[in-house]
Formats: sequence, C-alpha cells, structure tokens
Amino acid sequence: MNASLFFEILDGMADAVIVVGGDHRVSLFNKGAEKIFGYTSDEMMGQRLEMLLPEGFRSNHHKHVDTFSRQPQQASKFMSDRGEIKGQRKDGEVFHAEASISKVESDGKVVFTAVLRDVTERKKAEEKLKHSYIEGITSLVNAAENHDDETGGHVKRIGHYTKELATAMGMDKEFCNMIFHASSMHDIGKIGIPDRVLLKPGALNQEEWEIMKTHPSIGGNILKDGFSPYLQMGREIAIGHHERWDGSGYPNGIKGEETPISARIMQIADVYDALRSERPYKPAFEHAKALSVICDGDGRTDPSHFDPRVLAAFNACSDKLNEIYENLK
Ligand SMILES: [Fe+2]
Ligand SMILES: [Fe+2]
Repeated sequence: MNASLFFEILDGMADAVIVVGGDHRVSLFNKGAEKIFGYTSDEMMGQRLEMLLPEGFRSNHHKHVDTFSRQPQQASKFMSDRGEIKGQRKDGEVFHAEASISKVESDGKVVFTAVLRDVTERKKAEEKLKHSYIEGITSLVNAAENHDDETGGHVKRIGHYTKELATAMGMDKEFCNMIFHASSMHDIGKIGIPDRVLLKPGALNQEEWEIMKTHPSIGGNILKDGFSPYLQMGREIAIGHHERWDGSGYPNGIKGEETPISARIMQIADVYDALRSERPYKPAFEHAKALSVICDGDGRTDPSHFDPRVLAAFNACSDKLNEIYENLK
C-alpha cells in the first residue's frame, strides 16, 4: 500500500487516530481527531497528548503510559482493550470516549497509537434508558408500598445498606449501583398477599404464615419477564432474600451459593433493618444489640444463616449501616 492511500484511509475514519512518540508529543492527528477535538492537525503537531485530556485524567495518564512503556513489547502490545476515558475538546468541553492504545517499537523508537471514539451520544442514550428503568422500578415499588404497611424509609435504607455491603465486599461499581435500585423490589410479592394476612396486627397462625411465605415466589413471578438488568437482579433478590446460607430459609430451602450473591447481601440488610425496627413481637433494638444478634445469634437469628463473606463485610461496615439507619429512620 502506498503512503497516500494509507493516509486517505486514515482520514476517512470516524475515530480519532493519534500517534505520539516516546516523548509523548503528537506526530499524527487524523481528520477524525480534528473533528472530535476541534484542533487542527497543525495545531496539535509536536504538542503533548495531555492537552486532549481533562485535568483530573492527566496524572493518571502519565502513570499509565510510564508503566506501559516499561513493559516488554510481547507482554503488552495493547495498553487496554477499549477502555473508557474522558477527553477534552478545544472549547473545554469534557466528553466520554472509548480508547485503545497500542505500542510499536521500531529501530529502538517507541510509537504509541491511540484510537479514540466519541461516545457522548451513546452515553446519553444509556443514561436515558437507565432513568426509564429506574422510573419503572419506582412505580412498581410505590404500588406495592401502598398495599403494605412497610414504610418507604425501610426501602430507602435497604438500598443504602446493600450498596454499602456490596462496596465493602469489593463488588464492582456497576453491581453496587445496581443493587441500590434492585433491592427496593425485594418484597414486591407482598402485593399478592391478602390484607387479612399482610395487615394482621398480631402474630400469624400457621395457615397465615404459609400464605405469607409465598411472597418471594410471587415477587419472582411478577419480575420474571423483566428484561432490564435491574429487574433481573430484582428478581433474584425477590426470590432469594429469605433463603439462608445453612438451608433453613424459604421458599426453596437452598443453601450457600445456590442463592445469588445479590440476595445473600439483601438478606442480612433486611434482618438488620428488622432488628432495628419495632415489630409487633419486639421493640426496636439499638445498633449494638442488632449487631450482636446477627454476629452471635439469639436463638431465633443465627450467624449460620448468613454467607460468611457477607457477614464479614457486615462487620466491617456496620458503623455505616448504623449511620444509614439513624439518618433515614
Ligand atoms: Fe420479604
Ligand atoms: Fe423488607
């Protein structure tokens, strides 16, 4: 292929293609890059790549490139598979981008090529979609709440507890944000429980208790055709939040990791909140008492009910759960 054809191809690309040398100075800036960043190729020649990154990204970028440069070529031809970064246009606007960077060494010289795509529009569409998912969840939860006497405070606190626990367990950011919303649907199945059982002021008899125990399966059915990842996690949580690690829970009596992690996190959050709240059969417990019931057991609740990993996370962040309760009670 001759050089002019090669440059024509390069300039025909919608993505930005930017080449920098070992000195981090730009030596190629295609038409796509001009369009995305607003600088002309002439303006960028010989400039440092950092000019195209927002303030907060610059030092990170330095560290990244340094480590990358020192690795042998065979070990890392690509710095990242299409990582998400932020770029900054000439007019100062910061935008979402996806970039991959590759390294070529020839005659002892190192050349980095960044291929970058502006994903602003896609991000906006994703945000919109996420909002509509959350709107749907809120309506569903509101409908169930009207039927139940459980307070909105409980649902709010549960979102914060589960996110805190998931974070303490080192789950990724997406999971932590997802469980924050998905956990609100845990008792959605109570919408299918008759009022005489759901709203009965005293203790339930055996027959009523059996009816009450169907709420996880009803919840699972309500959410079973859910397409969004929120509804899918919501379904796992709805079905599994009364299961126990030792298999003594309901509705399926499954054990250990057979219950999805989202539901195992939800389970401890729900127990903690129930202990902190007043119930017909018990007063509201202080944090220390709730902590000891969960960690040491009280004859009714036992540590063997909980996933040991979730229990460890609960121990590690219990002060924060207390704060959440106090702020949102
Ligand atoms: Fe429940
Ligand atoms: Fe609950």
